[in-house]
Amino acid sequence: MNGRDLVRSVKMVGSVRGMRTVRSAWRRQRADARALSPRGPERARVPGLLAGAEPGPGGGVVRFARSELCIRVSAGGAVFWAWDGAEPLPSYALPGPAPEPDPRALLEPDKDGGWQVVSERLTVVVSRHGAVELRTPGGVVLRRELPPRWWEPVAGGSARWVQRSELPADARFFGLGGRGAGPRLRDGSYALWNTDPGGRFGPGDDPLYLTMPVQVVVSDVGTHLVFHDNTWAGRVTLSEGQEGAGSGHDRPGMCEVRMDGGPLRCWALAGTPARVLQGWTALTGAPALPPSWALGPQHARWGFGSEREVRRVVAGYRERRLPLSVLHLDIDHYDGHRVFTVDRERFPGLAGLAKELREEDGVRLVSIVDPAVRAEPGNAVFDAGSAVGSAGAFVRDARGRAVRGEVWPGECVYPDFTDPQVREWWGGLYEERLAQGFSGVWHDMNEPVSFTAFGESTLPRSARHCLEGLGGDHREAHNVYGLAMARAGYEGLRRLRPDERPFLFSRSGWAGMQRYGGTWSGDVESGWPGLRASLALVLGLGLCGVPYSGPDVGGFDGSPSPELYLRWFQLGAFLPLFRTHSAMDAGRREPWEFGPEVLQHARAALEERERLRPYFVTLAQLARLTGAPYVRPLWWGAPGDRALRDCEDAFLLGDALLVAPVLQRGTDRRAVRLPRGRWYDTATGEVHEGPGQVLVDAPLSRVPVLARAGAVIPVRGADGGLELEVWAPAPGRTGGGLVVRDAGDGWEEAEVERYTSRLSGGQVVVERDGGDGEVTCPVRVRGV
Ligand code: GLC
Repeated sequence: MNGRDLVRSVKMVGSVRGMRTVRSAWRRQRADARALSPRGPERARVPGLLAGAEPGPGGGVVRFARSELCIRVSAGGAVFWAWDGAEPLPSYALPGPAPEPDPRALLEPDKDGGWQVVSERLTVVVSRHGAVELRTPGGVVLRRELPPRWWEPVAGGSARWVQRSELPADARFFGLGGRGAGPRLRDGSYALWNTDPGGRFGPGDDPLYLTMPVQVVVSDVGTHLVFHDNTWAGRVTLSEGQEGAGSGHDRPGMCEVRMDGGPLRCWALAGTPARVLQGWTALTGAPALPPSWALGPQHARWGFGSEREVRRVVAGYRERRLPLSVLHLDIDHYDGHRVFTVDRERFPGLAGLAKELREEDGVRLVSIVDPAVRAEPGNAVFDAGSAVGSAGAFVRDARGRAVRGEVWPGECVYPDFTDPQVREWWGGLYEERLAQGFSGVWHDMNEPVSFTAFGESTLPRSARHCLEGLGGDHREAHNVYGLAMARAGYEGLRRLRPDERPFLFSRSGWAGMQRYGGTWSGDVESGWPGLRASLALVLGLGLCGVPYSGPDVGGFDGSPSPELYLRWFQLGAFLPLFRTHSAMDAGRREPWEFGPEVLQHARAALEERERLRPYFVTLAQLARLTGAPYVRPLWWGAPGDRALRDCEDAFLLGDALLVAPVLQRGTDRRAVRLPRGRWYDTATGEVHEGPGQVLVDAPLSRVPVLARAGAVIPVRGADGGLELEVWAPAPGRTGGGLVVRDAGDGWEEAEVERYTSRLSGGQVVVERDGGDGEVTCPVRVRGV
């Protein structure tokens, strides 16, 4: 037991759950001690010397004395390489089938006695000892993977392995899922193991709920993404390089990936950031399109407690004329915290309440869904789950008994979402949620969590899983538990309500998560560092292909100061998921709870969000079509600009806007790094020329937002209809923008409209591409 464990244990033992978490920790330890033999003797192995090669579709196989390497370039440009015969499928990240090989990519000898595969965007060069180099078409090295090393248990079982890589000295690392310390991942070690930090987290807590072995690396040479398709626990150690380090020589950046088992297979994509993300989502699936109501303001709280309180809160928004699109109900509306139940005393007419809120206030209800099922005969979900298939739906231990853990409802069992039959059963349970009037779901506690007084707060590593029929244990299934649950929920909702797009977001997940929905920050601490971490998470996840996310605005625990609350609110208003939320014992988060001044400025933020709703609808569609996240780092369009690469306190919202949130107390002016081109301060109209850094006003009433010259932005006009806001192009330049109109909450394919802007005789002219160029909605020109 380490110090942190001890503190946790003392906290928990003194709580309601008390001794049960101690029992659950012992149980977990005992199960593992029995079923997982300690790692016995191991044999180390490296590939050895090159022994031959065999061309195949898209590349081929290179043989070494003690291993073989398969290289395959796919038609979309993604490069796959794998050791020891690993194939792209099966994979939790790829929805399948595997991408077609590119017939033009050929394996050929290179001049140094190794082999190479030349493709349009990447050249892969394999050395005689098994180093794999990724080079640009111009021959510059993006990444050099040194020969891997395996440790194989003599008694059999999955080998651990390590893969070290060298990167350009100026490279910066991003990604690895949701990291509070990001978005730029500085030197350090990042665990790949989805983890509930236990109540609250700040930038120093790692790992968090949603990890993934996806690295995005940006350097002067280019941007690339590398994905190690392996769900086991692992650790990525990063160290940035240094130019002119010792006696004028560069020290390369280093990356080391260590995995506890599983295949060594990788995907790489290179090009501009936009191309990389397009390739990544082509490989792992297009992001689910949230219904447009999910792009409006949302409010949650653990502990609304009753229908009366829900009505009171919604009335609070209504009476103050504050827009509200969604209200979330947390576990306190369940009966005894049991999933798929309702506390009839406190919520006697939930379906009626849902209907009333929707019809009278335009507010939808979203329900929390936790995976753990109270293990108690008579609990309908437990009984039904126990009857699924021949062995029941729940995760079992090595001796075949359902694994029990401790969660909100008490002693629980865990559906094995890696079993297709279980997913189908679970998906069907959402019928109950729909019947209660809920419009969407919020998946929680799916790392999965079992409260333990010491040790890991999750299932025993020895717990058995179906893993799509292949079988395996929790070491392999843990990281995809939330992803597989999301699949169950998403597919269930689609079956139950085929005409509407499901709305789902989940705390845990893995590569490919975006196919089913989004995510949120989890229990981010209520302090200025927590505010910073919120932005880091959204940016990092976006670069990993998960574009829809957002924090608990105001922080999960405690009570933010009015100033902190407001700054968080102002940031949240520009993030895809804009939701206030807090813990049971935390202070209120309604905008009117912080005094009249905060209310006035929060109202402005809410109104601006609503005005920008058509832009958010467009960004959601573009994310689905191209993989580009709504929220992008400043270097998105200019990865070669080193100053932008290091800038973490601002972001691009689509192509048109640059948002510079206030992340520090007592700020009324802040520095903003600008990408190249002309930018307008949207509040003052002041013109700034990039690249460079400018000082802009950031009064309490707003955070700085700059618009790119020439941008065409779809906004909601005063009459509620679509309007185009056009920012004057810089002299001699043109601009433009894309617009996708809201096509409702069904599956209708929306049309992408393209607009261009230019100056003509001192006037701003906007035209629609194609047809007669006529613009059919009102245009408002700004910046002249
Ligand atoms: C977890 C969630 C939080 C939720 C709470 C109770 O801590 O992260 O959002 O309110 O559980 O369900």
